Amino acid sequence: MKKIIKNGTIVTAADTYQGEILIEDGKITQIGSNLSAIGAEVVDAKGCFVFPGGIDPHTHLDMPFGGTVTKDDFESGTIAAAFGGTTTVIDFCLTNKGEPLKNSIQTWHDKSKEKAVIDYGFHLMISEINEDVLGELPQVINEEGITSFKVFMAYKNVFQADDETLFKTLISAKEHGALVMVHAENGDVIDYLTKKALDEGNTAPIYHALTRPPELEGEATGRAANFTGLANSQLYVVHVSCADAVEQIAKARSKGFDVWGETCPQYLVLDQSYLEKPNFEGAKYVWSPPLREKWNQDVLWNALKSGQLQTIGSDQCSFDFKGQKDLGRDDFTKIPNGGPIIEDRLSVLFSEGVKKGRISLNQFVDITSTRSAKLFGLFPKKGTIAVGADADLVIFNPNIERVISAETHHMAVDYNAFEGMKITGEPVSVLSRGEFVVRDKQFVGKPGSGQYLKRAKYNKNALVNQNETLSIQ
Ligand code: URP
Ligand code: ZN
Ligand code: ZN
Repeated sequence: MKKIIKNGTIVTAADTYQGEILIEDGKITQIGSNLSAIGAEVVDAKGCFVFPGGIDPHTHLDMPFGGTVTKDDFESGTIAAAFGGTTTVIDFCLTNKGEPLKNSIQTWHDKSKEKAVIDYGFHLMISEINEDVLGELPQVINEEGITSFKVFMAYKNVFQADDETLFKTLISAKEHGALVMVHAENGDVIDYLTKKALDEGNTAPIYHALTRPPELEGEATGRAANFTGLANSQLYVVHVSCADAVEQIAKARSKGFDVWGETCPQYLVLDQSYLEKPNFEGAKYVWSPPLREKWNQDVLWNALKSGQLQTIGSDQCSFDFKGQKDLGRDDFTKIPNGGPIIEDRLSVLFSEGVKKGRISLNQFVDITSTRSAKLFGLFPKKGTIAVGADADLVIFNPNIERVISAETHHMAVDYNAFEGMKITGEPVSVLSRGEFVVRDKQFVGKPGSGQYLKRAKYNKNALVNQNETLSIQ
């Protein structure tokens, strides 16, 4: 089925212009004016921006964690993502020590295959590096197209890997062309601080934040960045929450280290005081790293604007308030960490970022889509509007005012972290490879229609543009 999108303003990471887009067989085949094609359906985007579909580089769908399993799976999670203007997610595939990586990857294929309504790829968690793991990595990269590995520096006795594992992962990633991602917090010191807090009878949600101070995120970020420089490798720091971590990333980049940073909407608009909400509601706002003192938000916005942080992920990791978050009612360490953000990632960034003049429209596209496509081996198939690219498109009305609420969201959870927030702008229709997934705010997609994406190897040259200070060695 052919389609022509007319009357919209096309926005890419580089340009903003009036133009029409012809879609054939799921691809963009022409961009121009007065386009026509026999049998093409005309889609009117009057008054709207046309963005490349968002790429969410950080999701946890159907993931066992904190004694329970995330509420949103690949069906509800990708439907909500599509409503929010995201057409690709890259989800974290967990692994178990001593088990072949291919078993874990198969588990993630089984979770996603019949359910995803948009395209998806996987990052792979590395919890140990031994001969078996090293032997499997070339296959993971070359055959599965999994070209990014995640190492946790926190969650002691659960996911945490030691420094040797991180360093060896960086070396191996360099050799094979993969990007290493880190959850950067000092898990050992956090373990000490949390035990001490509980011993002292401090069990409320706010102690989650007080036992994970920003210094420990800054320390771990700097450590991972220094290892990266030493290994001459490449690093992507997920969910950067505070000035301490931004400083370390900026320092590493100024030395020419190949270090990138992601933040998340929650760190840009929510703060530590949310953990003190009465009636245990603070549990809804338990993330690791935790929400920070409000002044950090300006630092994060400025880092996005200046390019010291480059992407925004949702870190979608949703748990119901009733029945899941309340596992930690008497002990903050038992509150499952994470929240439901996948649906509001673009809208919050647009409303708080573009509308309030903190970032430009083109930066918005870069941060929500293009940069992730380049970092994670999807560009130019994904992440841009260009002839030959997949027709993953968002028709976005920049003027609609609305209030975010769990009553109207499409995630499976019983609360929304941005409940009551007034925002401007909304995706109206969303196409994945030329087919509507959301049309005029109605879901018209099909579970199982999302395709698994084998991604290309990490390519530093695709990432450096004239606006950036990163020096190529
Ligand atoms: O609290 C968080 N961030 N939950 C998801 C798991 C992770 O650390 O990314
Ligand atoms: Zn994390
Ligand atoms: Zn995460």
